[in-house]
Amino acid sequence: MEFKLMPGGAIAGEVRVPGDKSISHRCIMLGALAEGTTRVSGFLEGADALATVAAFREMGVQIEGPDNGKVIIHGVGMWGLKAPRAALDLGNSGTSIRLLSGLLAGQLFDTELTGDTSLRGRPMGRVIDPLSLMGADIQGQEGGRPPLKIAGGRPLRGIHYDLPMASAQVKSCVLLAGLYSEGRTSITEPAATRDHTERMLRGFGYEVISDNGVISLAGGGGLLATNIDVPADISSAAFFLVAASIAPGSDLLLTHVGINPTRTGVLNILRLMGADITIRNEREVGGEPVADIRVRYAPLKGIEIPEEQVPLAIDEFPILFIAAACAEGRTVLRGAKELRVKESDRIAAMAEGLDTIGVVNEVLDDGIVIEGGTLGGGVIHTHHDHRIAMSFAIAALRAEREISILDCDHVATSFPGFDALARGLGLQISTLAD
Ligand code: S3P
Repeated sequence: MEFKLMPGGAIAGEVRVPGDKSISHRCIMLGALAEGTTRVSGFLEGADALATVAAFREMGVQIEGPDNGKVIIHGVGMWGLKAPRAALDLGNSGTSIRLLSGLLAGQLFDTELTGDTSLRGRPMGRVIDPLSLMGADIQGQEGGRPPLKIAGGRPLRGIHYDLPMASAQVKSCVLLAGLYSEGRTSITEPAATRDHTERMLRGFGYEVISDNGVISLAGGGGLLATNIDVPADISSAAFFLVAASIAPGSDLLLTHVGINPTRTGVLNILRLMGADITIRNEREVGGEPVADIRVRYAPLKGIEIPEEQVPLAIDEFPILFIAAACAEGRTVLRGAKELRVKESDRIAAMAEGLDTIGVVNEVLDDGIVIEGGTLGGGVIHTHHDHRIAMSFAIAALRAEREISILDCDHVATSFPGFDALARGLGLQISTLAD
């Protein structure tokens, strides 16, 4: 699938973007292990979350839906999963493989976890290391890449783990293994990362203590089914926050967006750049803060992105680079090496695309420098990365010529229907089948 974009346009209207990817994964995992029936609404029907659904079905969990965002999970209890018949294929999803490796390390049966070409190139040593310390038997391929082979029936023990990198996936992996471990498991992080696992465990009645930067839980407890309303994903909303900010004449209302403070770096960074963003109707839904966000066009200026914002906006940098390209002056990002091990090397992939459309940039080991200016056009390669594809689609609003984006199938991993929704709001996008 290919996107073709005519230059120019403005963004207007009101929209609820699809459900949060991180929360959608977690409600399947915890719902499956709970006692009782968990009902979910607002579930993300994207390929990544569906890979998690398929994995749990394969392990004997009855899951109804998704149907219009509604999912019903018939929990089997902490020890009710069954051995899958074959390797679990988690597609493109880093969250699935890393969280599942923790959860499966504590089971009585063996499993093998694999994925697509992109996932098979991503580092898993970051989960193999702490799980091995806990007593798990987990082996990767050369360089700690998937497929991962996990031998069941190994008793796990709680550990204290100082996370070497700011990663919610690794934190969550260790916490999920901690559920099956003897004693307490505790974690410190170099910087706060998304805390959806901790919040949702509490929602399922499991005690998780967060005290002075130390997150801990005791193994051996159980989960009680609950109902979950998944907020719209701020990472998907981010494309339209930038779209409306860069396109003159835009005025957009994004409704029911998750504004968990561990995810709002994109709002903080855009505001520092001069964006006109208003938060309304703040409320709490199922333990997660949610709000409506109004964004209107405003001229942006280049900034030095504060490093403490990096983990809070980690998935939003591709689209923030487009904001930087449209801003007046220079934007500098540092301390963002993690971008190199996402669905693609996002620093390299974005720099290549920015070069194509004539935006001056300098790649750093752990970031990038972008000079705001005029955007041309050209042909973009996504490197199989959904967020690279959507970012350059939004860039067309300020481009002088047509932009073609090759290989856009992966957009459906996190944002099914992006093209139709974007067209409805004013982007001049057409989709071509291969
Ligand atoms: C996620 C954590 C982040 C993020 C990913 C989803 C999660 O990854 O990039 O899209 O759901 O825990 P890291 O924890 O590896 O930074």
